[in-house]
Amino acid sequence: MPSEPTFPQRVEEARVYLLERLHAEPEVLLVLGTGLGHLAGMIEDPLLVPYDAIPHFPRTTVTGHHGNLLFGRLRGRQVAIMQGRFHYYEGYSAQTLTMPIRVLSLLGARELVVSNAAGGLNPAFEPGTLMLINDHLNFIPDNPLRGPNIDAWGPRFPDLSTAYDRGLLARARACARRLELDRLAEGVYVAIPGPSLETPAETRYLRHCGADAVGMSTVPEVIVARHAGMRVLGVAVVSNVNDPDNFKPILLDEIIRESEACAARLERLLLEFLRDE
Ligand code: HPA
Repeated sequence: MPSEPTFPQRVEEARVYLLERLHAEPEVLLVLGTGLGHLAGMIEDPLLVPYDAIPHFPRTTVTGHHGNLLFGRLRGRQVAIMQGRFHYYEGYSAQTLTMPIRVLSLLGARELVVSNAAGGLNPAFEPGTLMLINDHLNFIPDNPLRGPNIDAWGPRFPDLSTAYDRGLLARARACARRLELDRLAEGVYVAIPGPSLETPAETRYLRHCGADAVGMSTVPEVIVARHAGMRVLGVAVVSNVNDPDNFKPILLDEIIRESEACAARLERLLLEFLRDE
């Protein structure tokens, strides 16, 4: 019996499969979170590749997430868009769920623009706040770089002193000012394993830890992107604000509804950001 391919072998097979189909090298990889997948419709001459056609790719299992990679031009830049992403709570290891980031980095992507729907912890936030992520806390009990380091991919101990690129943050701020976007904030994102949502006591704890927004994604992807030397911009769409002293149920339908309501503002910001290279 042939043995199971190793992770680097799986990555290589997926890379070659995509390389044979691509017309141009992607510069920027965009990962669109819950309810935020519309931007994909604006790509010129899109090449759509379903995740389930790509060898060894994980499969999406979540409502509100499509499962496609799209390639093409957006605002004059070569982009790849992940329409739907993978999460630790689906049962994937951090290494497996970040496989697309690794593959796209090896295909040439030098920038990662990552978005998500998140719960607000900062009491100054309101539903619809767009939070530029300036740092993170990893409370997922796994790290995508655990195990043997592939030196050709990146260093054993990658530095995360500025995981969220200062230059890209400045550019995003300038774009938001130019567009006169309201409800724009900046802060720390904490990734929890999920899938259960936070209790009031956990919400209080996460606030004390210094987090401004909480969600179940993004951080593993950012770790891999930084390992691969990509520059990262992260934006959290605050779909609900959690007050430990007046705690309301957190409902998936509301998360999807609010992030869809914010999608247009996020899209304007990202389109301006891409154009403004
Ligand atoms: N908690 C965790 N993840 C989330 C939330 C939340 O309140 N809202 C959207 N994603």
